[in-house]
Order: sequence, then structure tokens, then C-alpha cells
Amino acid sequence: MDKPVVNYQVDEQVGVIRIDNPPVNALSHAVRSGLMEALQQARDDGCGALLILCGGRTFIAGADITEFGKPPREPHLPDVITAIENFPVPVVAALHGTALGGGLEVALAAHYRCALSDTRLGLPEVKLGLLPGAGGTQRLPRLVGVQAALDMMISGDPVGAPRAAELGLVDELLEGDLESAALAYTRRLLAAKAPPRPTGRLPIAAPDAPGFFDDYRAAIARKTRGLIAPGFIIELVALATQVPVEEGQARERERFLECRNSPQSAALRHVFFAERATGKLPDIPPDTPVRPVNSVAVIGAGTMGGGIAMCFANAGIPVTLVETARENLDRGLGIIEKNYATSVKRGRFTQAQVDGFLANLSGTVDYADIADVDVVIEAVFENMAVKKEVFGKLDAACKPACILATNTSYLDVNEIAAATGRAPQVIGAHFFSPANVMKLLEVVRADRTAPDVLQTFMQLARKIGKIPVAVGVCHGFVGNRMLKGYARQAQLLLLEGASPAQVDGAMESWGMAMGPIAVGDLAGLDIGYRSRRDQGIEPRSVKESTLADTLVEMERLGQKTGAGYYRYDPQTRRREADPEVESLIADIAARWGVERREIAAEEIVDRLVLSLVNEGAAILREGIAARPSDIDIVYLNGYGFPAWRGGPMFYADSLGLDTVVAKLEGLQRLTGDDCWEPDPLLLELAGRGEKLASLN
Ligand code: CAA
Repeated sequence: MDKPVVNYQVDEQVGVIRIDNPPVNALSHAVRSGLMEALQQARDDGCGALLILCGGRTFIAGADITEFGKPPREPHLPDVITAIENFPVPVVAALHGTALGGGLEVALAAHYRCALSDTRLGLPEVKLGLLPGAGGTQRLPRLVGVQAALDMMISGDPVGAPRAAELGLVDELLEGDLESAALAYTRRLLAAKAPPRPTGRLPIAAPDAPGFFDDYRAAIARKTRGLIAPGFIIELVALATQVPVEEGQARERERFLECRNSPQSAALRHVFFAERATGKLPDIPPDTPVRPVNSVAVIGAGTMGGGIAMCFANAGIPVTLVETARENLDRGLGIIEKNYATSVKRGRFTQAQVDGFLANLSGTVDYADIADVDVVIEAVFENMAVKKEVFGKLDAACKPACILATNTSYLDVNEIAAATGRAPQVIGAHFFSPANVMKLLEVVRADRTAPDVLQTFMQLARKIGKIPVAVGVCHGFVGNRMLKGYARQAQLLLLEGASPAQVDGAMESWGMAMGPIAVGDLAGLDIGYRSRRDQGIEPRSVKESTLADTLVEMERLGQKTGAGYYRYDPQTRRREADPEVESLIADIAARWGVERREIAAEEIVDRLVLSLVNEGAAILREGIAARPSDIDIVYLNGYGFPAWRGGPMFYADSLGLDTVVAKLEGLQRLTGDDCWEPDPLLLELAGRGEKLASLN
């Protein structure tokens, strides 16, 4: 028989309930039922106090997310929580690791809370499109006040135990062995005859400021655009200040179910598991040994190289920045120091932390100084000849076991690997700019990359705080390859009659962080212009880049010159439509013989998003990405795709692949453009009535 996940024992007068449900003690059905049984047993025993704690690495980390898509089973968590709160003798929750979501709600229902000082406590439900559904919205403000409770629930970010103690969320900080320290605390409460102290009965003060909740709602509107849970959380906390806990909890349950059944929570739950799946490589066993990485070198101290070096320095891995000339090196190191100083000013890091990071960073102009490093990441100019030369030199200079990575965005990693005598140790590492901020890392597996090298790199990426996605070699890998069709559609829509503001407005209302035209202005139109020129494409010779080429020739490079597709207010940097560009677009459309018409927002969204979906399907069919959810992770973390839509491939599934195919065929008829021909993989899955998710 399986070991029970909840155990109950009496230790002198203290009933001890111990939960053991690895890996994170999630509140599965077995745990909820076990808790109910243990509570009953404790009641029957007539113990003087009750202590709830967990074995393993953490206190309960929340509801079992895998159960959310399934029919609910009794006992429901709110019933368990009410039973804890109404328990006739003092109940103590002893926390360690992470007390999150439903786990923190169990702790909130206990009468006293103690915690090891490195515990983190939070209600992260909002990140899953949910709200705390087991009394959290009603009990947390009773303990920590309305403002702090809202801040915790709306951000979803946990607080450390010392801060939780300041807030009144933790009564006692513990050191040493959890169980003995918690038992000692419980016995002290018993000796002091501390009474049961149900949190739901504590008084709650309404905020003094009139209009407090409206102001709070307005303040978070931009950050929480598109999400339904934050508004409900504010409503429920306001309610908590007006009604008894039972009434508040009943409304909370309704709102929770509304969220749980919403498409956006399904999408965000998908994202939670998708993020964790990227590290699992289908053909590489998880126990594949990884190589130790104790030192790293980065070639090139430009914006990218500097950002990459910061990632390693921040993670405590010694990193050497390599440049060709002392002057360039000093400039690069100077920029890094300036970036760190800004982080200190903004409160992101303390000066002491930054001093520690800088101690991990050194620079050189001599390859001989990096002979012993374990990994090199090249971040020089995006040009094949230059990269090959660098790799030839690295191959000669670095120890034989060293892994050589290239931070290319487009180039063929096989060709770069062939410039060395160690192709199995060559890999691509496509960081996104700014590299010290962006979470995504495309790890490019070339034809001869060894499995342990790939595994080592995936783990190294996690160590420096990135979300790595393994991708195969093709022009632009996953993200930029898909972006090409997306950006092309944006340009064609302009010529066919939509204004820049309409295209961006449609995409931003749909949920994208920024529309594609505004992204062009932010990145700088000269980048694409130069890249086309390098590929031998004459300026203004291609329909969909004529507008961008013309703007560059007018010295309208985007935000950095105050004008691109839009004009930018020099003070506020707000974008404004520019009639000069509108008439330029009309001229270019006429020159290319494009007939202009009114274009609805729905067509804009369909054309942009479905171009991603169709190319994503081709990428899957070719095996460039291992699973659809990996493509979603790339788009969510690198391209501003809204998490609550789950990513382009999840979105395609939520539309239904038959609908996707019908829409693609409709666009092919409308535009006569073969790019809309549905990818064979979509046709095959739609024909079988299956989803892309069946390939995850
Ligand atoms: N339910 C089910 N599985 C979970 C889980 C949960 N709540 N939390 C983590 N897991 C699984 C992960 O999927 C992962 O599984 P695999 O090993 O098979 O990939 C495993 O547990 C370990 O998780 P991590 O890799 O994330 O481990 P970590 O040590 O990096 O992080 C953690 C641990 C901080 C607890 C992190 O897993 C986490 O943030 N979990 C989610 C917490 C959360 O959102 N809780 C709220 C749930 S909603 C809720 O509780 C609603 C309510 O009010 C009733």
C-alpha cells in the first residue's frame, strides 16, 4: 500500500499533522481528505493544541494545479480550511520552504504561524489567472491590512519570513530543526494558555482614504491589462471590510470558479507547465551527466556581450570579457558599471550586491587569458566570416574540454562549428536584448552538438536565471523565423489600407505588449535596412520593405531620431500619428499597385497571429522545436505575446485547428498570397480532430 500523504501523531499534548506529498506537498485530493481525517482524529483525541507541518523541501506550495482541469472532488479546500479555523484548541502552522497559494491559505486558517526564517510566503494565484480561492482574500487583509494584502495578491510575489513577521503574518521566526522548534513554540503557547485565534474573526479596518479601492484599481490598470482576476481581488478585499468572513468567502468561491473556468486561467496554467517542460529534452535522458562550469568568457564587450557577462556575474560565475583593443574593453566595462549603478539607484540591487557581481567580472585583450575557462560565449558582429575567424582562434586558444557557444540570431551554427576541430562542443546561445533582463534563451543544437553539451548548456541557462528553449538550426531559429512573416503582414496591412495606429492598436488591444509597427520604431529601422543591404537586396526593391527603406533614407530611424513610422514627443516619448507617413504609405501603395480598403481589427489580428501559427507548425514539422509549448515559451518571453493567451500554438488550439485552417484558407482567397497555404501539419491534425497539444 502507498504511504499515506498525511500522518497524525500525538506528541505529549500536541497533535502533529504531517503532510508528505512530494515534490511540493500540493493540496491534492489525497492531502485534503487526509487533513480532514487527521482533524477528526485530533478532535477525538482531545489534544491540547494542534501543529500542522510538512516533510520534504517545502510547506504546501498550493493547490494541485494538475487537478484544475478535472471535475472537483470533495472535500473542497474551503471546507478543510473552515474546519481548521473552527478547531476548538489552538492550531499552529509551521512553515518552511515556500508557503504558497492554498498552502498559505491553510496557514492563514491556523490560529498561529511560525516559520523558518528563509521561508517565502505568497499568494501567487494571479499568475495562474486565479485568485486565492480558499479564504485568502478575506483572511490576509485581517492580518496584514488592506494595502499590504492587495500588494501581495495583485503582484503574486512572495515575501520573506522576516518581512512577513513585520506585517503580522508570521508570529514567530524559528531557527534550526523545523519540527523541534515548532513543537517548542506550540508548547510555549500551551503553557501561556493561548486561546484559539480564528483569523476570520479578527477585526478589519477599512482604508481611511476615500476612493482607496478605485485609486488602487486605476494604479494597476496598465500592468494588469486583459486579466480578470486582479479586479476581482480588489472587489473581494473591499467586501472583506464590509461583511463577515463567511459571506466574503462565499463570494470569493464564486469569483474563484469564474476564474478557474476562464480560458485565461487555462492558458496561464499551460504556461506554468510549459516553462518547466522546456528543460526536458525528448531524446536526452534527464540523468545525462553535465560538465562543471566554473568559469566563462564572453567575446565582445558590446551591448550584447556586456549584458551576457552581467548574467554570469550576477549568478556568481566568474566571467572574463574579451575585446580586441583595450579601449573597447574599457568602454564595455564602463557601460556595465553604469548599468549596475542605475540598478542600485532604482533599488533593484544593493551596492554590496553589485560589488559582489563586479568582483566576478574581469577583462582581457589576450585570448591566452581564457585558455582554462569551461565555456566561451561569442557575441561579436553578426557576420559569418567574422564569427568563423573568432571560432578558429578560440579553438586554438581554449582547453580541449571547453564548450564554445555563439550568440547568433540567424546564422548557421553548423557552419560556425565547422570552423573548429571540436564541432560536438559547439552550440548556439541566442540571448535576447537586453541580455541581462530578458528571460528567454534559444539554445541552438547544431547537427553535431553532443547531448551532454546541450544538457550542460540548458542547466547553465537555468543557473543564470534564463528560460532555455532548445531549438534546431534554421535561419532565425524559432523566434526570429516566425517574426519574419508577422512583420511582413504588418507592412502589407499598411499598404492595403490600415494606418500604423490601427495595426498597433488592434494588436495591443488583443494583448500584445507593443504593436509591430511601434516595435520597429523602438528597435530602429536602420537595423533591417542594413541587414537587407548585407543580403544584397536593393533598397525599395521589395514591396513589404519599401516603406521602411524610404523612412530610413528620410533619416527617420524610429524613436532614436524622434520619428519613424510615428512622431515622438521629445519630452514624453509618446507616439503620435504622422500625416506625412500616411501620405507616404498611400504613395508607395499606388506605386506597387496595391488597392487600398478599410481593414477591420479582426483581420489585422488574424493575419498577424495566424502567420505565427502557420510558421510555428512548419517549425514543428521540421523538428526545429521539440514541442508546441516550447514555441509558446519563446513567444511569451521574447516577443511580448500575452501570457494569458498561452502563446501562439496554445491560442491555435483554443480557436480549434479546423477554424485555424478555415481562416488560413479564407486569407489565401482574400489576398491571393501563398503564404497562407495551411501547413501540412495543421491539415493533418485538424483532419484527425486533434490539437497541437497532442504533440507536447
Ligand atoms: N501543483 C502541481 N504540481 C506542482 C505545483 C502545484 N501547485 N507546484 C509545483 N509543481 C510541480 C512542478 O510542475 C514540477 O514538476 P516536474 O518536476 O514534473 O516538472 C515540480 O512540482 C517541482 O516544481 P519546480 O520545478 O517549479 O520546483 P522549484 O523548486 O523551482 O519551485 C515552487 C517550487 C516555488 C513551489 C514552484 O513550483 C511554484 O511556484 N509552484 C506553484 C505555486 C503556485 O502557484 N501555487 C498556487 C496554486 S493555485 C492555488 O493554490 C489556488 C487556491 O487558492 C486554492
